[in-house]
Amino acid sequence: MCGIVGYIGHRSAQEVLLRGLSKLEYRGYDSAGISVYNEGDLQVQKVLGRLVALEQHIQTPLIGGQGIGHTRWATHGRPSDDNAHPHSDCSGRFVVVHNGIIENYQALREELTSMGHRFQSQTDTEVVAHLVEELYAGDLFTTVIQVIARLEGAFALGIMAKEEPGKLIAVRKASPLVIGLGDGENFIASDIPAILEYTRETYILDDGEMAVITKDGVDLFTFAGVPISKDVFHVTWDAVSAEKGGFDHFMLKEITEQPTAIRDTLTSRISPDGSRITLNEINLTDEVANTIDRIHIVACGTSYHAGLVGKAAIENLTRIPVNVEIASEYRYCEPIVTDKTLVIVISQSGETADTLAAMREAKSRGCARVIAITNVVGSSIAREADDVILTLAGPEISVASTKAYTTQLICLYLLAGHLAQVRHSEGANLIPDIAQALRALPEQAEQVLQTSAMIEKFARTYAAAKEDCFFIGRGLDYAVALEGALKLKEISYIHAEAYAAGELKHGALALIVEGIPVIALVTQDKLYEKTVSNIVEVKARDAYVLALAWEGDAEIHKHADEVITIPRTLPFLAPVLAVIPQQLLAYYASVARGNDVDKPRNLAKSVTVE
Ligand code: M6R
Repeated sequence: MCGIVGYIGHRSAQEVLLRGLSKLEYRGYDSAGISVYNEGDLQVQKVLGRLVALEQHIQTPLIGGQGIGHTRWATHGRPSDDNAHPHSDCSGRFVVVHNGIIENYQALREELTSMGHRFQSQTDTEVVAHLVEELYAGDLFTTVIQVIARLEGAFALGIMAKEEPGKLIAVRKASPLVIGLGDGENFIASDIPAILEYTRETYILDDGEMAVITKDGVDLFTFAGVPISKDVFHVTWDAVSAEKGGFDHFMLKEITEQPTAIRDTLTSRISPDGSRITLNEINLTDEVANTIDRIHIVACGTSYHAGLVGKAAIENLTRIPVNVEIASEYRYCEPIVTDKTLVIVISQSGETADTLAAMREAKSRGCARVIAITNVVGSSIAREADDVILTLAGPEISVASTKAYTTQLICLYLLAGHLAQVRHSEGANLIPDIAQALRALPEQAEQVLQTSAMIEKFARTYAAAKEDCFFIGRGLDYAVALEGALKLKEISYIHAEAYAAGELKHGALALIVEGIPVIALVTQDKLYEKTVSNIVEVKARDAYVLALAWEGDAEIHKHADEVITIPRTLPFLAPVLAVIPQQLLAYYASVARGNDVDKPRNLAKSVTVE
């Protein structure tokens, strides 16, 4: 996720761009840059760091009333001055800002390099500037149409040409872009807050649409160059709710972003024919991969819960034994680590002190390699690990982790498949089926989000009034139940316990009393009958059971008081879908109790102390 702003009109473009970008830093903040057109020149200033670093870096103000700006959240190429946007072609005739991922950038880069183009950055975006340069024949609009026909992936783009002053081109495919309509001025932005202080009249571009913007007008087109018209969208939100995209809280926004986050995290990591996992960012050699005899997964909180699912995926596909360890325990338990131990650390922030220390402990004990799964490029954990697999979830603001968890699961499935491939494990034969099921997940996650109203009702009318709640499941359902319980306690402050369903009778059953809510997960086919027996046990003690089950499961309605269903996928991918209703339950219970959802008491987003 990155933030784009563009301006054309009578004001100082630099000022509008910087003010707009300050509202988009939630979308990324590892580097920032602007380009302003003035008297035949496309001036560019860009720098590593937050927006404040760019402000300090601009010694002499850039004069001009037309420009584009960007705040970056690195995906391709580490955060650096060179990799910051805007990007230019060889001769500085064109500038481009981009949000998204150009999936075929490697092939385009090789093609353009062989034609003599010289690249300044490691980004996927730079190919766009060079393609424009290569195809330009005097008309930026028609050139951009040709360029986007060559691009695969997701891209919102802002483009300017030195030879065509007074014109901005905006393009949208699978990454958001809005156009702000002013009087003698117009704007583009990744999100409404960036332009809200200037205008409330907007066009929200849909996928496959582009615009030619001057200070006096906006012309809209399809990618084929066919003119279209759109209704003006009048923004009624205030500035604060606009930053949350119209949602009441970042947590709900982030829950809702999961289909996109899952899609982005899968992007370009499965071969086009779906037969292979292509985790090209991993430099684990076949030789090392084949000598690994055990794996330690180390993490905290939600990331630890993702690790529990990862264990099942890796053991299933590779038969390598996996231990999942809480980082704060691992660092002091004198872990048995050899040069055949692969260590996987998982951390959304990449800064969690215990996870970082645990990683250093494993390294000092001579582990074979550390692979980090993290959401933040350039974080301490990303820098110190041998390999990094990025969750492409975009910045997560709410303290309660949601989209980071689901994208961590995706990375773990991909890593499990990658290891199985390299080691020629039997599990590698399942990869085509797994790849197909993974690709269906974004749409299925959308479907699960549709259950929101039912969950809200259950949360408001039932759960929020209780002081205790149980989550039960077996196998992977137990792993996801742990995450559901953590979410609920963290933001609703309701005491929540997750239990392996078969373990209830060894103690916790004593706590099951009339009316206590029990969330029962029943997605693991092999264990279905067993879990149903446990539901019957708690029902016999008058618990109130909400079951999370597969779509089409008629049987479960006979046992549970309420049922929320998820669409069918492979049972070992079920956690990705089964966690969503639990996130929503925690969210709505917290709202019903009047809590500060995004900033729960006593907690912080990034735990950089021991
Ligand atoms: O940034 P990390 O993934 O390393 O953070 C680990 C935990 O602090 C984090 O997952 C925490 O449990 C969340 N607040 C849970 O929602």
